[in-house]
Amino acid sequence: MTTAAGEDLAGRAPRTPAIAAVAYHDGGFVPLRDAHVPVSTQALQYGTGVFEGIRAYVQRSTGTLSVFRAREHFERLLRSARMLRLDVGLDVRQLCDVTTELLRRGGLTDDTYVRPLAYKRALMPGTPPGVQLRGVTDALSVIAFRMGSYGNRGGIRCAISSWRRPASSVLPVRAKVTGGYVNNALAVDEAHAAGYDDAILLNDAGRVTEASTSNVFAVVRGRLVTPPVAAGLLEGITRDTVVRLAADAGLPTEFADLERDDLFAADEVFLTGTGAEIVPVTEIAGRAVGAATVGPLTSRLMEAYQDTVRGDDPRHADWLLPVR
Ligand SMILES: Cc1ncc(COP(=O)(O)O)c(C=O)c1O
Repeated sequence: MTTAAGEDLAGRAPRTPAIAAVAYHDGGFVPLRDAHVPVSTQALQYGTGVFEGIRAYVQRSTGTLSVFRAREHFERLLRSARMLRLDVGLDVRQLCDVTTELLRRGGLTDDTYVRPLAYKRALMPGTPPGVQLRGVTDALSVIAFRMGSYGNRGGIRCAISSWRRPASSVLPVRAKVTGGYVNNALAVDEAHAAGYDDAILLNDAGRVTEASTSNVFAVVRGRLVTPPVAAGLLEGITRDTVVRLAADAGLPTEFADLERDDLFAADEVFLTGTGAEIVPVTEIAGRAVGAATVGPLTSRLMEAYQDTVRGDDPRHADWLLPVR
């Protein structure tokens, strides 16, 4: 396990560079300093890109890196890409190969974050300028950087954002579209300005959707509940992992709408996301959640999650893609 600074828990310095000096860009591996896009890039102008955030973890038994649920992340990337008529040019297996090769070439052997980005690049000859999805070339870049756990394991404080999560009739919120993250950024900015760590966003009907870059779970009178995809949220891969780990422990998850006051009355609330992992929420909008400490179920799932991502749970070995 490493800290955000990349140190391991024993305080040892990171073994590898902060960012891979190599990137996958325009169909090949190039030095990171050469991986540029022109200012005319359509995705820069209109937010027409799709992306993923994937983690690779040092395995406890071998000390080597494995990418966690790479296949599911790339399946989602390709689904997001279809939304924008983006041709990523590689299938899931090829994207997994690019990732492991990038980590190898980048010499990254500490906990790492991988960021694939597929985007609309340039107008094809004959395409008039304007905001459109057809007649524009597609591109793919992948970078990787060292990233330890950064979620506050002692619990965070969340605001209920005044920014609503857009409905899927407004934006394809189930896809990770770069432009859509303006909504998330505004919610985080507002939460930080009010002294909170993160924001929970409601939908237009006032139901809980998700936090800025993670999904929400609540323990309500012994039941584990998370909002359904129809509430208008990104179907998180960590959300799915937690559902599976809770099932392993004999606890089914209910997919049910949560109102703001369900969160206020919950015994435990936690967030899940690839970057954040599992983060307890101990305060929401100025109210303590449960006993304002990390709850027993949250703590158990946090432990199970670390065991899983670090290769100590043989039931889920197929979620790990080794970097050989
Ligand atoms: C808006 C949003 N919701 C939820 C998540 C959690 O998804 P995952 O667990 O797949 O990382 C993320 C992060 O990718 C996100 O950006």
